[in-house]
Formats: sequence, structure tokens, C-alpha cells
Amino acid sequence: MYKTHTCGELRASHAGQKVTLAGWVHRRRDHGGVVFLDLRDRYGIIQITINPNLSKETLNVVADIRFEWVLQIVGTVQKRPVGMENPNMPTGEIEVIASGINVLNPAKTLPFMVNNGEMNEADENTRLKYRYLDLRRERMRENMILRHRVIKFMRDYLDKQNFIEIETPILFKATPEGARDYLVPSRLYPGQFYALPQSPQQLKQLLMVAGMDRYFQIARCFRDEDQRGDRQPEFTQLDLEMSFVQRDDVLAMVEGLYTAMIPAVTPHKRLLASPWPKLTYKDAVEKYGSDKPDLRFGMQLVDVSDIFAKSDFRVFQSALEAGGVIKCLVASGCADTSRREVDELTEMAKSFGAKGLATLAVTAEGPKGTAAKFLKVEEIEAAKSKVGAKEGDLILFAADQRAVVNKVLGGLRLVFRDKLDLADKDVMAFAWVVDFPMFEWNEEEKKWDAAHHPFTMPKMEDLPKFETNPGEIQSDAYDMVCNGYEMASGSIRIHRRDIQFKIFQLLGLKDEEIQLKFGHMLEAFEYGAPPHGGMAPGIDRLVMLLADEPNIREVIAFPKNSGARDVMADAPSSVEPKQLKELHIKISD
Ligand code: AMO
Ligand code: AMP
Repeated sequence: MYKTHTCGELRASHAGQKVTLAGWVHRRRDHGGVVFLDLRDRYGIIQITINPNLSKETLNVVADIRFEWVLQIVGTVQKRPVGMENPNMPTGEIEVIASGINVLNPAKTLPFMVNNGEMNEADENTRLKYRYLDLRRERMRENMILRHRVIKFMRDYLDKQNFIEIETPILFKATPEGARDYLVPSRLYPGQFYALPQSPQQLKQLLMVAGMDRYFQIARCFRDEDQRGDRQPEFTQLDLEMSFVQRDDVLAMVEGLYTAMIPAVTPHKRLLASPWPKLTYKDAVEKYGSDKPDLRFGMQLVDVSDIFAKSDFRVFQSALEAGGVIKCLVASGCADTSRREVDELTEMAKSFGAKGLATLAVTAEGPKGTAAKFLKVEEIEAAKSKVGAKEGDLILFAADQRAVVNKVLGGLRLVFRDKLDLADKDVMAFAWVVDFPMFEWNEEEKKWDAAHHPFTMPKMEDLPKFETNPGEIQSDAYDMVCNGYEMASGSIRIHRRDIQFKIFQLLGLKDEEIQLKFGHMLEAFEYGAPPHGGMAPGIDRLVMLLADEPNIREVIAFPKNSGARDVMADAPSSVEPKQLKELHIKISD
């Protein structure tokens, strides 16, 4: 037997027992002839005391032992001498007096320390190159365990709700989710390719046609898109789909799952509200300047266009004349923001698309700020009262087209969240955003794209608007948002061939192209497809928030770096000419 106990489980009640342990050397201390080793495994850390009376040979071995060597220790559990206990360690009341030491494997000098709680001292590429060492650290181990608990909870919960987990293929055909596909060349069919699924969207719908009724999968998705902190080229969704449901059936199911799961996996986190608020897309964007609002704090955007309808301030006038709006935000207690800070805020506003930023500070000496001298007293008073600004507050104005104003103030709202520490990280402010537009204008290609995906059911009464104003057509799509992140998307799906065909046409696909790409879906809809809908929460983003991590790489065992590379295995990498030949591929420069 390698070991009788784990390093984390021994307590005072084990005193006197002979044990065998195996693990890594976490720390080593030499105290006047006595050597203490902290031995670590997944379950914890225990102090090993090397008895100076051991054989010369054994003591020589001990002299060589360094960080992260793998040891097997035979010894006796003993209570620590009075005053030597360590209340910060679960095993701190005891130590193991070693009588035998077996070196299972030494370790080279480490590229970074494993026993260091602070992880950021090693740059991320070094951490990723030696990910197996990085994962030895407590914080990463806890993240992996939390991720496991989340997924386990989901599986158990959904099983009880009659869902069945079904695996779907990785080698498949392009499923449009708005990103580029990863393609896999076929050896057997020269010039032909599989596409890795951007999501199992088509397959889960076909499982509904197959009568599976309630499906889920912990599904890997592949998208060749630019990386961000909350995006990876491959990531994991809790993918689910249900038959004979309407929007609120799907929302209630997932809300029930998350509401039960959060306290079970992270008891220190609190839900802001239950039931979760439901916002329309329009309200979210108008009030918070984002379709993924952070609801942990107020600071809503207020439209003050009416107050400045006759203003002499040229900036406000010209925005209104151009059909735009004037909206503002109140930064509580920020009236003393310095000129330099206002300039920085203005630069940030510009990075969000603004032409400038006007400020009004409410002070005991009267109005100050960049807009003060341009505004009439009655305008200032009316604005203060409409937005509820008090002495000491700073009002920030943006004047432009509605979409620009919302984006700018939405961005600044988050800047102030972080500056003023307005959001509690232990609060999970889940909400549903509903009534999304069906189409989005693609300026680059001058065509309409599906805002969610093309399988989403439009609000049928809106369809005639395609001839007049396609941007106003709403769909039966919904998002789950939390703390400023999009956590999930879903929709009620089209289950009729004629409607699906029409949507593909509206998206600008030629009839032959529709047949080639989606013929199998259209055909399936002709064999008794039930009404159905579903959604897909991102698991990486959820675990990231629950673990208080700043990006999803910290909760994925082996992520790609920000340049989409696996720096540990060094992938992507070139392949043998023979392999390329078999795949009928020539590399051109
Ligand atoms: P969507 O494309 O919105 O919808 O994705 C759903 C959720 O998956 C997560 N997500 C990501 N996480 C990490 N890295 C990425 N690159 C990434 N892209 C998306 C997000 C997002 O909310 N088939 C539809 C769902 C459906 O209609 O049922 C879909 O995939 O949390
Ligand atoms: P200007 O007259 O261009 O110097 O602008 C006067 C003030 O209004 C400056 O503080 C600008 O940053 C600000 N400003 C300019 N354009 C806008 C805009 N579109 N919205 C809000 N403030 C603006």
C-alpha cells in the first residue's frame, strides 16, 4: 500500500497510530538539527518531523530533499508539544514523526513556487507552460474542485427533472453561432471538411424531433474568434433543450437549477433577488447602457433631452438636431473629481465612441464642471431634480445618437462601479433579458444577420416588418445575465419548415445554399417536429464568477493563452508532409 491516509485527514484523535503517507514536499524548515517537512496532497498538508535519531543514511537522504519532491513517509502520529500547534491548519494539532522516508521521485528546481498563495508573480505564459505545476496550487485546485461540484450539481438536478444527457458529434457540419468555424479536413473525401460545432444547436433540435423531450449535455463548443477574458476557442456549455415549452417554462427550469445550485456549491454567495428580474432588451439598454447589465448597483442612465430641448449649449443642441438624445449618470460623492480625472474619463468615453463628455459638479459654491458655464440655471436645477443629484455629486452627460449615448454611459457606469467599489463580489445579480431584436445590421457585409441564431423563432406578428423595418422584428430569444456578464443565451425555436426557410432567405441565403447547408434540418421539420426551445449557459463564465476569478482561463484546466495557443504542448504546430498529403492539403504562403 502506498499510503494509509491522505495528508489532510489526520487529527489529534489519530495520535499514537502508525501511518504511511505519500505526497509532495510543500515546504522544508531546518530548526537546530530537526528538519520539518510539510507534505502535501490534494486533501491537505501535514507536518512531518524528521527524528534526528534516524540512521545516517536516511538523514543523508533528508539533506537532499527539496521542494516538490515526491515522498513516501512512514511514521507515528503525535500531538504537537503545547504551544507548537498551528490553528491555521486543519492538521495543526499534530505532526507525524517519521521513521522511514522513501523518495518516490525528486524534482528539478521549479520555474515558479507552488507553495505561494499569490499566483501572479509568475507571468501567465510561464504558468500555462507548466500548467501541471500551476494546478498544484491551492487556488487552482479549489477552482477545479468547484467546477466539478457545479457540473455534478447540474447533472444530478437535471436527472431528477427527467432530462437525459446525450452526447453529440464533434465532427459535424458548420452550425452558425456568429464565429468562424474550426475545420477538419477529410482524408477519405479530398477537398471536403468537417466543422467542429460552435454549439450542438442543430443536433439538440434534432433530438427534440427524435422525441427525447428533455435533453442536456455538458458540451464542448469550438469557435475561432478573437480571445477575451471571458472567451476561449473551446469552452463548455450546459446545453439543454425541451419540447412542448414556451419561453417561461425554459426560464423557470434554469432559474430553479441556478437558485438551488448557488447556495449548494458556494454558500457564501447571495442571490440579489428571487425570482430573478426580467428586463426587456430595450429597458436594459436604456437604463443600464448594456444588454448584460450589472444589477448589483443602481446608477441608471436618465434621459434629459426634454430639459435641454432649448439649450444654448452647442454640443447639446447639435445632438438633438441630429435626432440624438442627451442622457446622464450621477456619480455619487464625486463632485471633487479633479480636472485631470475628468480628462481621463473623457478619454474613456471617447474609447466607447463618444465625441466628448460634459460634466456638472453639484457643490456648495454652485455648479462646476465642463458644462456649468454653458447651461442656464433653470436647466441645471431641472436636471438635478430629475436625476436626484445632491450636493457632492457629479453628473456626466453624453449627447449623441441614442445607441452611442447608451454605450458610452453604460461603459462609464462600469468604470465608476470599479472606481467606487459599488458592487459586492459575493452578490450574484441574476436577471433575464427578453424580447431581443431578431436581426442585426451587418455594416461590413451590408446585410441582416440573426441577432441570436437563425433557428430562433421570430415574433410572428412582426414578420411583415421585414419589408419596412427588419431591425424592429423581435424574437423569442432570451439571455441570462449576471454581474455584467452574459451567462446564457437561448430561444424558442422555429419548428416549421416554411418559417425556417423564410428566415434563411431573409438572411440573404440563396435557395441552393439553404439546401446544401441546412437541408437536413428542413427535412427533419417535415417529419413531425414538436414545438421546442432551450438555452445554453456557459459553464466557464459561471465558475469564473463563483470563484472570484478575473478571467475564464483560471477555471479551465488547460486553457489556450490570449493568443489562442496551447503554450504547454505548443499547439498549433506544423505537421509531417506525409500527413498533409494524405489530407490532400498544400500549404501556400
Ligand atoms: P451563445 O452563442 O450565446 O448561444 O452561447 C451561449 C453561452 O455560451 C457562453 N460562451 C462562451 N464562453 C466562453 N468562451 C466563448 N468563446 C463563448 N461563447 C459563448 C456564454 C454564452 O452566453 N446554441 C446557442 C444556445 C441556445 O440557443 O440554446 C448558443 O450557443 O456564456
Ligand atoms: P467643446 O465646445 O467641443 O469644447 O465641448 C464642451 C464640452 O462638452 C467639453 O467638456 C466636451 O468634452 C463636451 N462634449 C463635447 N461633445 C460632447 C458630446 N457629444 N456629449 C457630451 N459632451 C460633449
